[in-house]
Amino acid sequence: MGELEIRRLFLVTDPYFEKKGIAAQVAAQAKAEQTEIFSGVEPDPSLALAAEATAKAKAFCPDTVVALGGGSAMDLAKAVAYFSGLKPRLVCIPTTSGSGSEVTDFAILTHEGIKQVLVDASIRPCAAILDSDLLEQLPPSLIADSGFDILAHALEAWAAKGAGAVSDALALAAFETAYSHLSASFAGDKNKRLAIHEAACMAGMAFSQAGLGLCHAIAHALGGITHLPHGRLNAILLPWVIDINAQACGKRYGELAARAGLGVSRQLGARNLKNALVCLRRELKLPGSLGEAGADLRLVERHRQDIISAALADPCCASNPLKVDASAVGRVLECIKG
Ligand SMILES: NC(=O)c1ccc[n+]([C@@H]2O[C@H](COP(=O)([O-])OP(=O)(O)OC[C@H]3O[C@@H](n4cnc5c(N)ncnc54)[C@H](O)[C@@H]3O)[C@@H](O)[C@H]2O)c1
Ligand SMILES: [Fe+2]
Repeated sequence: MGELEIRRLFLVTDPYFEKKGIAAQVAAQAKAEQTEIFSGVEPDPSLALAAEATAKAKAFCPDTVVALGGGSAMDLAKAVAYFSGLKPRLVCIPTTSGSGSEVTDFAILTHEGIKQVLVDASIRPCAAILDSDLLEQLPPSLIADSGFDILAHALEAWAAKGAGAVSDALALAAFETAYSHLSASFAGDKNKRLAIHEAACMAGMAFSQAGLGLCHAIAHALGGITHLPHGRLNAILLPWVIDINAQACGKRYGELAARAGLGVSRQLGARNLKNALVCLRRELKLPGSLGEAGADLRLVERHRQDIISAALADPCCASNPLKVDASAVGRVLECIKG
């Protein structure tokens, strides 16, 4: 932070980091002439919250916006950078290992129950600071939720229409690391946290290049309605999406399973990949269905058509390896109700 020569720092964070005094510590490291801390970040930030933070930033005129927090803080900071028109330098300090938002062109903002994806090259941060000291107090449920976000990013990037040699290398390394270390980190092993943090970052780079897929398209649509954590929705969806997509990319899934050391032949790969993820999900005490996750199933049913339309319109759907229609999304929704 000290090397960035920041003059006017606008720090975007959530109440947890302000209360713990960590936001003030990070701001002090920047040695800026003037600092303003916006600590109103909420999970799955709304467009209204982005407008509020943007107004504060415009009044302050920062040369640098720093995000300290998980995907929600980073996405809000990106929205501030984009909507303020100030073209500030954007720096991200992730405190969860999952979203990869510190290296992507994406920001997710919720408006009227729909998670909208903002994609623009101008919101790719100029620096990401990966500091595992910030992960010391991660609660196990957050390790599990965001861990499945890494796995979903890596697996969807690996199978996406835009995949290539570079994104494959990043996706494979991220998948292997997250898959092999998440259980230990969940059980309290703090030595694995930096490796998982780096895996989240690599998975973010992979999907930035290759795109994502159906799992994320439906997770975004369901997140806006149910407000379940994004990674938890991915954990519920991913095995079913593997099932549906296997007809188009079963071999690719098999290759990932074999190369990630799941010890299976390529033919059996998709099925083994799915089973391995279901076992890991259980180990991380994640729910297997929306019902188990405590979602309001009547609400989901009432918004069924909206969810299907939002998923099909989501940019992640366009890079899914299989072309899907409303009936395929409907089938996945039936499977995950539980
Ligand atoms: N922009 C992208 O490329 C991208 C990719 C994937 C997901 N997302 C978005 O990111 C959001 C999810 O982000 P997330 O999973 O990082 O969670 P989050 O940012 O919503 O944070 C969840 C909770 O964890 C707490 N927390 C964060 N770091 C902590 C720490 N080190 N110790 C203790 N508590 C901590 C926060 O205070 C918050 O209450 C979703 O809105 C999702 O849509 C964005
Ligand atoms: Fe994600």
